[in-house]
Amino acid sequence: MIKKVQKSKSLKGEITIPADKSISHRAVMLSSLARGKSVITNFSSGADCWSTLNIFKQLGVNINEIDKKTIEIVSDGNLKRSLSPLDAGNSGTTTRLISGILAGQNFDSEIIGDEGLSKRPMKRIILPLTQMGARIDSVDNHLPLTIHGKKLHGIVYHSPISSAQVKSCILLAGLNAEGQTTVIEPSKSRNHTELMLKYLGADILVYNNEVTIGPSELSAKDIEIVGDISSAAFFIVAGLIVPGSDFVIKNVGINPTRTGILDIVERMNGGAGVNIYNKRILSGEECADIRVQYTDSLKDCVIEGEDIPKLIDELPVIAVLASQAEGETVVKNAEDLRNKEADRITCLVTELRKIGVDISETPDGFVISGKCKLRGNAELQTYNDHRLAMSFFIAGLICEQEVAIDGFEWTNISFPEFEDLMTKLQ
Ligand code: S3P
Repeated sequence: MIKKVQKSKSLKGEITIPADKSISHRAVMLSSLARGKSVITNFSSGADCWSTLNIFKQLGVNINEIDKKTIEIVSDGNLKRSLSPLDAGNSGTTTRLISGILAGQNFDSEIIGDEGLSKRPMKRIILPLTQMGARIDSVDNHLPLTIHGKKLHGIVYHSPISSAQVKSCILLAGLNAEGQTTVIEPSKSRNHTELMLKYLGADILVYNNEVTIGPSELSAKDIEIVGDISSAAFFIVAGLIVPGSDFVIKNVGINPTRTGILDIVERMNGGAGVNIYNKRILSGEECADIRVQYTDSLKDCVIEGEDIPKLIDELPVIAVLASQAEGETVVKNAEDLRNKEADRITCLVTELRKIGVDISETPDGFVISGKCKLRGNAELQTYNDHRLAMSFFIAGLICEQEVAIDGFEWTNISFPEFEDLMTKLQ
């Protein structure tokens, strides 16, 4: 589907950001592993989270959709073998996290996915799970995976990358393994798994970048999911760069392991244009409302090292933001962007250049020289990547001429409400 985007007038009003995708996945997984009844409210409507939900139904868990955003899960904590393959669709989080759960079961499972997911690397989880005693067959470390369930044992794993998917996979395996399991990361990745495990009563200890879990039984509890800062990020950037904008985004998760984009705005102009208020805690996760206002005072910055896990999914839209900052913004240490739904370095650079962004590719990131006048008048490819699609839409809002985005339907993977919410502010 081709979506045409025109230069926008100022964005005004108020929107509520839908549920966090990472937390929605974990809510279904952990409620399925817990004993008792959980009601999950404000569940994500993104296709990825529904891939997870359908897989746990297939694994014999009693899951009822009270309505599209309210899910009731009743479980005795046990999963059952599925005779048909488990289809993770486009979702890396589903694949990598359930692999940790399935590796320690007393049955075998097969995980399949779509073409894009089947190209993504799985060695990063096969390696540590194998060290824990798992037996996994793959096609050269890619999907389909056949997981031969067996009793696992704990390990101490020094992860070479800061990845919440890898960390969570190992912790979920550790939940049902003999002895303690420790994961140590180079820098801290998102900690939703740890927070939710703690919330549901697991034996888990966190010390800086090190997490240790022991075999634990989880007790079901209701979970209300905060809004997704990775979805809010598109609107935060839109508000900052579309002249005259001033609006409120309600119910945004502000877990400090996810707020890298806010740190970048702070670095680019002292945080002008972003005002966080009404902070509160929902089911162990911090959230707030955010007022966003246009600013013309953005300056370049360097984004590297420990910044990266805190904003890994936001880098495509941060590139759009940086195109409106004076000077040279440099993104380093982000080589794992090449392993996302698309190669988010090459694809981003190729497409943004078409509309006039002065951006160049480096092995582990990109460099943008601003402030760029965006001309538009181009058709951009999304490479089946939801975050590229939405980032290009945001760029289109400040282009002189129309931008066409080919493959815009991929936004449904994480944020089907994206365009309606944008229309509401226009
Ligand atoms: C996620 C972790 C990140 C992120 C992805 C969701 C998660 O992936 O990019 O969108 O929910 O754990 P990595 O662990 O590969 O960095």
